[in-house]
Amino acid sequence: MKRIGVAALLGAVAWVVLPSAALAQDAARARADATEGQMTDDERIALTLGHTASAIPGRAPPPAEARPGAGFVSGVPRLGVPALYETDASLGVTWIAGARGNGGTQLPSGTLQGATFDPALIERGGRMIGAEARAKGYNLMLAGGINLMREPRSGRTFEYYSEDPLLAGTLGGAAVRGIQSNHVISTLKHFAINPQETGRAFMNAAIAEDALRESDLLAFEIAIEQGDPGSVMCAYNATNGVQSCGSSFLLNKVLREDWDYQGFVMSDWGAVDAVDYALAGLDQQSGSAIDPQPFFGAPLKALAASDMNYGNRLGEMARRVLWAIYDNGLDAHPAAIGTVDAAANAEVALEVAREGIVLLTNADGILPLGPQVKRIAVIGGHADAGTLVGGGSSKVLGDDGPSATVPLNHDGTAAFAAMLDQTYNRSAPLAAIRAAAPDATVRFRDGRYASEAAMAARQADVAIVFATQYQTEGYDLPDLSLPGGQDALIAAVAAANPNTIVVLQTGGPVRMPWKDQVKAVVEAWYPGARGGEAITDVLFGKVNPSGRLPITFPQSEAQLPRPVLDGLDSVEPNFVGVGAPGQVLEVNYDIEGSDLGYRWFAREGAAPLFAFGHGLSYTSFAHEGLSVARDGERLVARFTVRNTGQRAGADVPQVYLADAAGEPMRRLAGFAKVELAPGEAMEVEVPLEWRTVAEWQDGGWTVAAGAYRFVLAPDALADGPVATVDLPRRRIEP
Ligand code: BGC
Repeated sequence: MKRIGVAALLGAVAWVVLPSAALAQDAARARADATEGQMTDDERIALTLGHTASAIPGRAPPPAEARPGAGFVSGVPRLGVPALYETDASLGVTWIAGARGNGGTQLPSGTLQGATFDPALIERGGRMIGAEARAKGYNLMLAGGINLMREPRSGRTFEYYSEDPLLAGTLGGAAVRGIQSNHVISTLKHFAINPQETGRAFMNAAIAEDALRESDLLAFEIAIEQGDPGSVMCAYNATNGVQSCGSSFLLNKVLREDWDYQGFVMSDWGAVDAVDYALAGLDQQSGSAIDPQPFFGAPLKALAASDMNYGNRLGEMARRVLWAIYDNGLDAHPAAIGTVDAAANAEVALEVAREGIVLLTNADGILPLGPQVKRIAVIGGHADAGTLVGGGSSKVLGDDGPSATVPLNHDGTAAFAAMLDQTYNRSAPLAAIRAAAPDATVRFRDGRYASEAAMAARQADVAIVFATQYQTEGYDLPDLSLPGGQDALIAAVAAANPNTIVVLQTGGPVRMPWKDQVKAVVEAWYPGARGGEAITDVLFGKVNPSGRLPITFPQSEAQLPRPVLDGLDSVEPNFVGVGAPGQVLEVNYDIEGSDLGYRWFAREGAAPLFAFGHGLSYTSFAHEGLSVARDGERLVARFTVRNTGQRAGADVPQVYLADAAGEPMRRLAGFAKVELAPGEAMEVEVPLEWRTVAEWQDGGWTVAAGAYRFVLAPDALADGPVATVDLPRRRIEP
C-alpha cells in the first residue's frame, strides 16, 4: 500500500519559515533600515502615499509614470528604490476596461479554487498570474482575498476561498507564495472582516474578540504564516466601532505585536479618513485621490516634522514598505514588459477549473454522458458565448475582451460600467460540447422562453440547462434565488425531459427548488479562461470530478444567522458603499460568532441543502482506520483511503473535530487531496491545526484538558470513522 504524508500531498514544503528564509528576511530588514536612514522626509513620504493609476473624473490625475492599473507608488531612484506598479487581483491581471490594450489569463473564481482543496494547485495558479503581472510591468498584485464567507449573499463571495478559516488561510497562503515567487509582492486582503458589500464603507462589523480570533483572523494568521505576503490591505468597514484602516487593535496589536508581521499595511481604495491612521498602524494610503485628502502626503510630512510620534512612525512606515520590496527582490528583478505564453497559462486555468467543479447530485449515474447520447439540448446561461465572469475590481478578461455583456444597474454608476456589467468570456460551453460529442445533434436555445426550451428538451435525449447567478463587488444579492425566472425555466425543462442536467455558474450558494426533479447538478462556479471546456470535460467524463464545496449551501435564507441581509431595506445599492455623514450600518456577527457556515448548521442541528465539503465522484471511496495522536508538538491524524469504484479519481478526506472535552462541535482540523487508481488504497497522514482544536482565551490559545473526538468524514456534517485522543491542557501564545 502507498503511504503518503500531507506535506507531499499538499506540496506544502514552505509552510514553516525555513532558516534560510528567516535569514533572508533579516537581511531585508537590515537593508531597509540602512536605506531608510539615508532618506529625506520627502522620500519617505513617496513610499507612504499611493496614487490612483487610472484617471477618475474630478480627482487628481495619476502621475505620468503610472501604468494603467489599480495604483502607483513613487520610488526613490536616488537610492535604487523601485516604484510600485499595482494591479488587481486574485483571479488574474485585471481587465481595467481594456485600458492596457490587453487582458490576462482568467483563473476560475476564488470559490472554485476553494473547492479544489488543493494548495499545490492554487500555488501554481498564483505563480501563473504573478508571472503575467510581471510581464505586463507590475511588481505588486492586490491578490490574496481571503475573507471568510460569513454572508453568502455578499457580492464578493466569488472572490474568496471559503467559509472555513483553515481552508481559506491555507489556500490564500499558497496563492501568495505562488505570486511572490515572481519577485512580485502580493497582498492579503481585506483585513478584517468585510463580510458584505451593502454599506461597505459605513458598516460596523460587531463581533467579540475571541470569536474573531477563531474565525476571520485565524484565516489571515494562517495565510501570513504560510505565504509571507509583502503587504496586507485593510478593509473598508469598521470592526467593533473603529474603521479597519484606523484600528490600532487590528494593525498594531494583532498584526504586529501578536503575529510579528513584517510587511506593510496599505489601505483599500478610499478607506482613509484621517492622518492619524498612521499612528494606528496604517503604512500606506492607497489611491489617495479617492480619499478626502492625500493624508499621507503633505499633512503627514508636516506632522512628522513637529511631532515625534509621527516622525518615528514615518520612518517605520517607509522601512516596512522597503522590507517588502527587498524581501521580494523587486529592486534586483525589476518588472518589465515581457511576453506571456497565453496558451500555457490557460492550461493552468483549465487544470484549476477541472479540480474545482463540484458534482452535487447524479441520480441514476446519468453523468458522465456516453456515446449513446445522440440528441442534446443546451439551454440558457449564454452557453453559446462563454462562461460567466465575476465583476468589480477583480474582473479579468482575455485579450479579446468579453463575448457578451449584460448591463448592470447604470443608475449613477455609469463610470464603473466596465467593471460592473455582467460579462462572459470566450470559452463557450456550447462549442466545447459540440466538440466532445461530434456525432450528436446539439441544439441551443437561449432560455428566454421556457416554452421554447421545453420543446427543445422534449426532442432531446438529454437537456443541459446552464443557470447563472452573477456577482459583482459593490452589490450584494438580495437573496439566494437564481435570478430572472431561471427556476421556472429549469422546472419546465425538467418536466419536459426526465434526463435534465443543471450546470450552475454561481458565485456562491443558490436555492434549488427543482433539485429533485433533475438528474444531476454540476456546480461550475465562474470557471475561468477555459471554463466551457472544463465543464464539458466533467459532463463527458474526461475528468472525474473532485471538487468539494468550500461553502455551505443552505436550503433557504431562513437557515442563515441573518435571514435578511442587513441594510437590504435601508441602503440604496451603490458601488462605493458610502453613506450619509455619520451614517452607520450595524451588523451583529455575534449571532454566530466563530460558528459561521457549517459550524452554524452543526450548532443549530439544521440540515442544509448541501453541506460544506460535499462533492460526488464517478468512482467511490472508503475511509478506514482513523487514529489521532500527538507526535511531539504535532497532532496527527492517520487513516486509509481506498478507491472502491471502477475509475481513477481524487478524494478529499476531511478530519473534523467533533467533540472538544465534552463540547460537541464541528471544526475542520485537517484535510488532504489524494489521487487513487481503481482498487488502490493509500495510508494518509494529516497534521491537524492546533488552533482549530483550541479556544481563544485571555490573549492566547488554550486547549482544555480532556478527550477530543475527531471524525473522518466526506463532508462537514456526515459521519465516518472516529478517533478519540486525550489531550493535556496546552497554552499556545500568539
Ligand atoms: C477593492 C479592492 C481592490 C481595490 C483596488 C477596491 O474597490 O475593495 O479589493 O484591490 O479596489 O482596485
